[in-house]
Amino acid sequence: MSSSQSPFQPTTRRHVLKGSLTLAVGYLAGCARPGQSTGTPGEARASGESLIGFKPVPRSAGFGDMPVVSEDYEFQVLIPWGEPLDPEGPAFDYPPSAGDQARQIGIGHDGMKFFATSTDGNRGLLAINHEYGKNPHVLGKSKPGNAQEVLASQHAHGISVVEIANIDGRWQRVAGPNNRRIHGNTPMDMSGPVAGSPWIQNNAANPLLGTLNNCASGFTPWGTYLTCEENFNHYFGATGAFSETELTRRYEFSRRGEGYGWEAFDPRFDLSHPDYANEVNRFGWVVEIDPQDPDSTPVKRSALGRFKHEGATVVEGAGSRIVVYLGDDQRFEFIYKFVSEGDWREMVKAGRSPLDHGVLWVARFDEDGTGVWLPLTMEHPALADRFTDEAEMLVHARVAATLVGATPMDRPEWISVAPGGDVYCTLTNNTKRVEPNAANPTAPNLNGHIIRWHDDDAHTGSRFTWDIFLLADDHYKTEDSFGSPDGLWADPDGRLFICTDGDQFGGMHNQLLVADTGTGEISRLLTGVPGCEITGITATPDRTTLFVNIQHPGRGNPARTNFPALPDGKTVPRDATLAIRRKDGGVVGS
Ligand code: FEO
Ligand code: CA
Ligand code: CA
Ligand code: CA
Repeated sequence: MSSSQSPFQPTTRRHVLKGSLTLAVGYLAGCARPGQSTGTPGEARASGESLIGFKPVPRSAGFGDMPVVSEDYEFQVLIPWGEPLDPEGPAFDYPPSAGDQARQIGIGHDGMKFFATSTDGNRGLLAINHEYGKNPHVLGKSKPGNAQEVLASQHAHGISVVEIANIDGRWQRVAGPNNRRIHGNTPMDMSGPVAGSPWIQNNAANPLLGTLNNCASGFTPWGTYLTCEENFNHYFGATGAFSETELTRRYEFSRRGEGYGWEAFDPRFDLSHPDYANEVNRFGWVVEIDPQDPDSTPVKRSALGRFKHEGATVVEGAGSRIVVYLGDDQRFEFIYKFVSEGDWREMVKAGRSPLDHGVLWVARFDEDGTGVWLPLTMEHPALADRFTDEAEMLVHARVAATLVGATPMDRPEWISVAPGGDVYCTLTNNTKRVEPNAANPTAPNLNGHIIRWHDDDAHTGSRFTWDIFLLADDHYKTEDSFGSPDGLWADPDGRLFICTDGDQFGGMHNQLLVADTGTGEISRLLTGVPGCEITGITATPDRTTLFVNIQHPGRGNPARTNFPALPDGKTVPRDATLAIRRKDGGVVGS
């Protein structure tokens, strides 16, 4: 790692922010220019010349010890778990202490976004989610034995903001004032209808702390990062009496949680502690972070609802309103969108966050290939009957979505918007589906599918048309085999990058594929390592470097893999980011 002079000085910060704003808006406008609707999904790119020119990784190569990339590409490993955030920070030691982990890259690399800070795109801030690390991986044991070990586990979660630069053809971390860790104990704010409501007040009157299980992500045209809290229920357990209710069941709270054991040393996560009864309602939100202001407090945007947020995909819709597409990754949960009340530039200028004022909608997919967005507002009689106010409704958004008649889906994961306005969403699988419907046509759905839709009125309308882009079953046993699509990115040319997380045919590793949305061709760009998931896709503005993550290599077990096998003598597998480039410097995916 090399260090170098930071490009940020207080007087230049706004200039830099303006630069990234221009890039972000250009991208957003390319996705969804009002008036450019093509009407039906798939129309934007009718079949033509193939967009994919690389030699695919053969299926037989997907069983090795290290990642394999197309022979037309190369990759390097960046920011493995435990690396110090700054050159003077603590070196990786295993298992990490709580103090060290708070100053090191977290674990469970997932959704991320590269925010370019130089006009050539060779320098920028990588904001990256650290979704989770199980105790055997982080602590080297199944249960924490004291409060310090709970803190180490909490500090391994959250987000890193890390500055990187492409210096002489190699990406490296650089020291910078924006390098930052946000974790399970970082002070947070909340905004929107739930802020200040009784639903998030505890008897302990404890401050709002932490973000957890940060899965996929999004970014706004005003330059901020959105991180999404997914399986937040996993961190709660009960040391005493805990009675299940309809609501605890709906959000899957249980006595043992996912076995993190935090409740034994941290009462915030004890479901049976009367002083922290509403701590559960402080998680399950989309959190906004300014990556260029290390002193800013992250904000939980409650208008976007509380559920197991996979990601938050932002586009600019009609009237310059902000539209955020949101998936809830659990079997039989829903796809949502949030639409701001007005022009985002006007709102930002007036000091009103476009993410605080607007309407949350949930999708109903009808059998005839049309669909309806159902507004979750207190004007709906069923919602007015069930909830006392909007805050209560948003805290229980899943219940509200069921009451208005949304379509239960096969685990909605990432959502991406293609040029022309088609919206793609991965439905990763659903082993428990018995009754198929047109939008979820496989029962049980072992390998998943990708659905796409096209909203009326440039993403802001209440109606849409939809179709199934692909069923993974159709590919599962072929050379372009894959299953359980999860991470997704539609590039501006019409390619769809698909990351997998789940069972692959013959036991091959998880992988990254590129689909041509015009021709339907699918080609394998990368295979991972034993036990890993491939996720977290983002690119430089010129798209010559693609960043993807190897998450939970070997599921933390050194007997399965020692990826990334750094020359530091440590054998524990470490989540890491790969920077992937075409050897000829071309656009990734081509
Ligand atoms: Fe964090 Fe649904 O993947
Ligand atoms: Ca995922
Ligand atoms: Ca997944
Ligand atoms: Ca995951």
